[in-house]
Amino acid sequence: MTDSVPTYPFRLPDALSPPPEWARLRAGEPVVRVRLPSGDQALLLTRYDDVRQMLSDPRFTRHPDTADAARVTANEEGGVFGEKLTEDVLHQRWRRVISRAFTTRRVQAIQPRIEETAESLVTAMIERGAPVDLLAVLGFPLPAAVICDQLGVPGTDRDRFAYWSDTMLSMTRYTQAEIDAAQAEFGEYFAKHIAAKRADPGDDLISEFIRFTDEFDGLLTDEMLIATSQGLLVAGYETTAGMIGKMVAHLLAEPDRWARLLADPELVRTAVEEMLRFDPDPGFGIPRHLSADVEVGDHTLPAGTTVVCSIGAANRDDRTFTGADRVDLHRTPNQHLAFGIGPHSCVGQALARVELQTVLRVLLRRLPTLELAEPAAALAVREGLVVGGLTRVLVRW
Ligand code: HEM
Repeated sequence: MTDSVPTYPFRLPDALSPPPEWARLRAGEPVVRVRLPSGDQALLLTRYDDVRQMLSDPRFTRHPDTADAARVTANEEGGVFGEKLTEDVLHQRWRRVISRAFTTRRVQAIQPRIEETAESLVTAMIERGAPVDLLAVLGFPLPAAVICDQLGVPGTDRDRFAYWSDTMLSMTRYTQAEIDAAQAEFGEYFAKHIAAKRADPGDDLISEFIRFTDEFDGLLTDEMLIATSQGLLVAGYETTAGMIGKMVAHLLAEPDRWARLLADPELVRTAVEEMLRFDPDPGFGIPRHLSADVEVGDHTLPAGTTVVCSIGAANRDDRTFTGADRVDLHRTPNQHLAFGIGPHSCVGQALARVELQTVLRVLLRRLPTLELAEPAAALAVREGLVVGGLTRVLVRW
């Protein structure tokens, strides 16, 4: 480990390329001290095996269990799920309930509806005419529609959801007062929504969670249902939107990639996995707070440390992936870490995969001549959020 402490996150050379630090650190300094936006320090992991080991370790969570643990941002409080799900046993029980709603089978069953939404958004995009920002007309609206649909809230409230999500994912964009106000509004909105679903259940997730509650000894109180809805919105909306933007931008940045998909649409499944590996739109990285000493490679990381796992860097580790810096639309196996791994891995990954595959299939079918309407070098990443994402993806056809 060096004495000079680099500032993290690192600057990107351009929106579609990884920071040069990743390759250097993976090769020579796989455990390095970095300074976070809060000013606190943490240890950064960049190698695939190290990141995988850390995320798989059930002892460690993203929530600090001591007051002096490093914070990611100056205004961080309790993370996505607040304080409610920090306890291991409670978290595992909660995951069992939530996972029942996100099985591959259930997600396959809602695929036609996702496709219908993608089709109508692309139709509106075509009517509007080129050039258009694909993120604004498809990338954000699709996962917003899917999550609103799943939670049983009217599509007309999507804009409010977008604002709440943005606020709750802010690192530096909003003040603590704005974040608190958004959280309070969200809580109020959902308390009413849950009461309505208790009185008149439907086939949405909230009604389903309410039905599961009896089997789980009343685990999902209103407070937990609000935290869960907030968690699903925050975890599932901007991540998927950002990934749609990144996926399309990478595929169009090299026209040969798009041409290969047009020639063989069967490649969509492996292409989506490869995009998730190549650029999982990693944003900040995944924090873990160490409650015990742990050996990582040749290093002993002491209890009390905050570790940031760079999924983006791990996915480009050529110890694990042959030609890691090259896009291979056929790559199999492809055990990327875009959805994390272990006890906190992404509960919504089956849904995210179906959304990404559906968007890609619909775009290939409806807009085969799709191309970037500005040079890839002009693409820019959004600043100040925990998640990544491009500011816009201007396209024409
Ligand atoms: C491309 C889109 C997505 C990406 C890249 C992604 C990525 C991730 C990652 C890396 C984690 C692990 C965090 C950790 O270890 O601390 C995670 C957790 C989670 N994700 Fe996703 N996610 C996506 C979409 C979704 C969707 C659509 C949903 C649901 C609607 C969702 C729900 C969740 C939940 C609830 C967790 C927390 C699980 C837990 O703490 O046990 N995600 N996601």
